[in-house]
Amino acid sequence: MGKLLALAVLGIVAAFLGERLQTFRNKINASRELEPKRLPNCHLIKGIEAGSEDIDILPNGLAFISSGLKYPGMTCFAPDKPGKILLMDLNDENPRATELRISHGFDMASFNPHGISTYVDKDDAVYLFVVNHPQSKSTVELFKFVEEENSLVHLKTIRHELLQSMNDIVAVSSNSFYATNDHYFTEHILIYLELFLGLAWTNVVYYSPKEFREVATGFYSANGINISPDGKYVYVVDLMDRSIHVMEKHANWSLTEVKVLQFDTIIDNVFVDRYNGDIWGGCHPNGMKLFNYDPENPPGSEVLRIQDILSEKPTVTQVYVDDGSVLQASSVAAVYDKKLLIGTIFHRALYCKL
Ligand SMILES: *[C@@H]1O[C@H](CO)[C@@H](O)[C@H](O)[C@H]1NC(C)=O
Ligand SMILES: *[C@@H]1O[C@H](CO)[C@@H](O)[C@H](O)[C@H]1NC(C)=O
Repeated sequence: MGKLLALAVLGIVAAFLGERLQTFRNKINASRELEPKRLPNCHLIKGIEAGSEDIDILPNGLAFISSGLKYPGMTCFAPDKPGKILLMDLNDENPRATELRISHGFDMASFNPHGISTYVDKDDAVYLFVVNHPQSKSTVELFKFVEEENSLVHLKTIRHELLQSMNDIVAVSSNSFYATNDHYFTEHILIYLELFLGLAWTNVVYYSPKEFREVATGFYSANGINISPDGKYVYVVDLMDRSIHVMEKHANWSLTEVKVLQFDTIIDNVFVDRYNGDIWGGCHPNGMKLFNYDPENPPGSEVLRIQDILSEKPTVTQVYVDDGSVLQASSVAAVYDKKLLIGTIFHRALYCKL
């Protein structure tokens, strides 16, 4: 009897694990293959070889690029080099990416930049918020951009237990922001369990010097975050659910869900075109290739444009698809004046004239 019971329990556990594995594979669209869709006027950006995970562009066309991310479970082509922030002036005929100097006193050796967001104050001062992972921890680094000196002045580091596994950030003033946590746990083994069991425990938090709180939860893996040009809506990507959550922002900074858009592809970061409100997504067409990196069969890239997200039928356009022979693991797509930048988690970056 005891043996039979043990067998039955074993059977149930195996069936449960099998079902979880299948759900997990479906979630990341393990075996998705796409037809390439090239754009005519593109080239790889010189000097970016180890990632361009997130990009933000100022109203005047200056693009900030975070490069050199070291993220658990992801490939990295420059594991021994610190990360950096690059600047590109998209008004130039042939824009080049140059590294921004960072003020003395900031620990460059452990700089591991992830999501970034810019904020232009009323007096035209430009602030750059950077999600950083020094020693595998999560912090927010706040910098002031000094254009004449091509440099970033470090203003402060923000640490908090609510920011345990930060991924992306969107600034809402010169000293406040929303940020996403992409895992609930911080231990590797528990993170795998969380993903595998499909626990939707990750969240969005709001920070200001006066207040720090969770404003939304229930995401499998909250990832890219951005805000509509009028500041009324916040877009939160749930990477493991392949969805974008449109959240209404209230005067007290609370968020309530308006709608959820579901996609076939794994969206990573979202960029909002400040002139028309279009949302651009850097996407992973095939999750399995991303998580099991094989240089012989690399993960591809995909860019989506989403128009009229609040309407009954938003228009979703597939703008770019590559099988990884040009660009691997696209994580962001940002536009300015008919120019498109596509960034990647650990690979290169592409510049296109649209
Ligand atoms: C991706 O997964 C979704 C949900 O399982 C499915 O509807 C869709 O057809 C898949 N796409 C491809 C291209 O396999
Ligand atoms: C924030 O405002 C919304 C809408 O007015 C309200 O429903 C919510 O209870 C408020 N939340 C907090 C924490 O004050």
